[in-house]
Amino acid sequence: MVKPREQWGSRAGFIMAAAGSAVGLGNIWKYPHMAGQHGGGAFTVVYLICILFVGLPILMAEISIGRRTQLNPVGAFKALSNNSSWKFVGLLGVASAFTILSFYSVVGGWTLKYTMLALTGAFNDFAVGDSAAQAFNAFVTNPISPVLWHLVFMGLCVLIINQGVKAGIERWSKILMPVLLGILLLLVVRGVTLEGAGEGLRFLFWPKWGDLDASAVVLALGHSFFTISLGMGTMITYGSYLSRDSDLLQSALWIIFIDTAIALLAGVAIFTAVFALGQNPAEGPGLIFVVLPSLFPQMPGGAIFAVMFFGLLFVAALTSAISILEVVTAYFIDEKGWSRSKATYTFGGVIAFIGVLASLSNGSFNLLAPFTELTFMDLLDKVSSKYMLPLGGMLTAFFVLLRWGIVRFTEEIKAGARWFEVNRWTVTTIFTIAGTVVAYIFVRELIALFG
Ligand code: TRP
Repeated sequence: MVKPREQWGSRAGFIMAAAGSAVGLGNIWKYPHMAGQHGGGAFTVVYLICILFVGLPILMAEISIGRRTQLNPVGAFKALSNNSSWKFVGLLGVASAFTILSFYSVVGGWTLKYTMLALTGAFNDFAVGDSAAQAFNAFVTNPISPVLWHLVFMGLCVLIINQGVKAGIERWSKILMPVLLGILLLLVVRGVTLEGAGEGLRFLFWPKWGDLDASAVVLALGHSFFTISLGMGTMITYGSYLSRDSDLLQSALWIIFIDTAIALLAGVAIFTAVFALGQNPAEGPGLIFVVLPSLFPQMPGGAIFAVMFFGLLFVAALTSAISILEVVTAYFIDEKGWSRSKATYTFGGVIAFIGVLASLSNGSFNLLAPFTELTFMDLLDKVSSKYMLPLGGMLTAFFVLLRWGIVRFTEEIKAGARWFEVNRWTVTTIFTIAGTVVAYIFVRELIALFG
């Protein structure tokens, strides 16, 4: 006998879990460094527009596909398309989950290591010269330490997912998300009260259109999508634990609001400090792991804020990582009849192993060395964010338009809705725009690959 499918305990529980998935390294690590490199405010404006016109419709599509079918991504596409080849969109999602989590968990391990460094006061040695950069380099290229931290991080994901939807994902998200918001607000207050913080705010919110080029627009588009966990069926899976009386539009708006607010607040916390202490905002991916650790010792109360910051990053990464593992687990439970613990331990193990190779590729052992300059870890990141997710998102939008149908989609949204009076043609137009825009990113990346 199969156990009946679990459901979220409450609507707030679902929103916390979905927001926990959305809020992650994308918000606190990627968004600030991308905005820092591509014109600050201008990048932010483009990003906000993309969230509204591309992110929201695809998020609604995923949640409603999940709720309608009460199934994992593969099962869901199969059920809504009469078992046609659309199920490959679901399989692509499961494959993306393996690819993303293998490197995401390595960075998750870094956040744990940096929380420990902050706790032991190690940042005090980072204020001079490029010692912070050297320490970071030495750490990520080390064959043992980052591998162990990655395994700890992955172990935590497995433990939470093994507890199931309500006792695992929902309970932990309801504890961790408020903690995250609390820490972030303290960091924002610290940031804006630093002398010279205004420069940072101006940088982040005042658009300088001259710094924005076409590639930054494509980046903002791609990111608007990654940041709300779209394109691989995470939101299909989370939506599948919803009951039909929940209001989808309202939930989706909440998720997007929380995700965007947290990215902007993280930007405020980071750029006020970066500008107040006279650093370069366009540092790139090292902004968080190199620039910030060297700044904390220079600000009053910095030691405490350092622990908070990396603790925050860790919590954000953890609630996202579990949502990725849940896609794989749900697939093996629904489609292959596995038990939750068998699926979780087996594939948590497989992903942990790929992650070990990803971590090693930064230093001692790079699988790809004979073929390209790229490390194996970069490859996992690039292949998933640039090709697999946009492809998945584009196909999801086209699935709603061409196969499932706008009529059935809008009926699904109406179920449980307190207010939803949208003209079908408006919905069709929005989906056509969203699908085309994502197709544009995808094709551009393909051309860049072969061009
Ligand atoms: N959205 C998360 C972040 O911003 C990452 C993430 C979790 C994700 N699940 C996903 C991204 C599914 C794409 C697809 O860090």
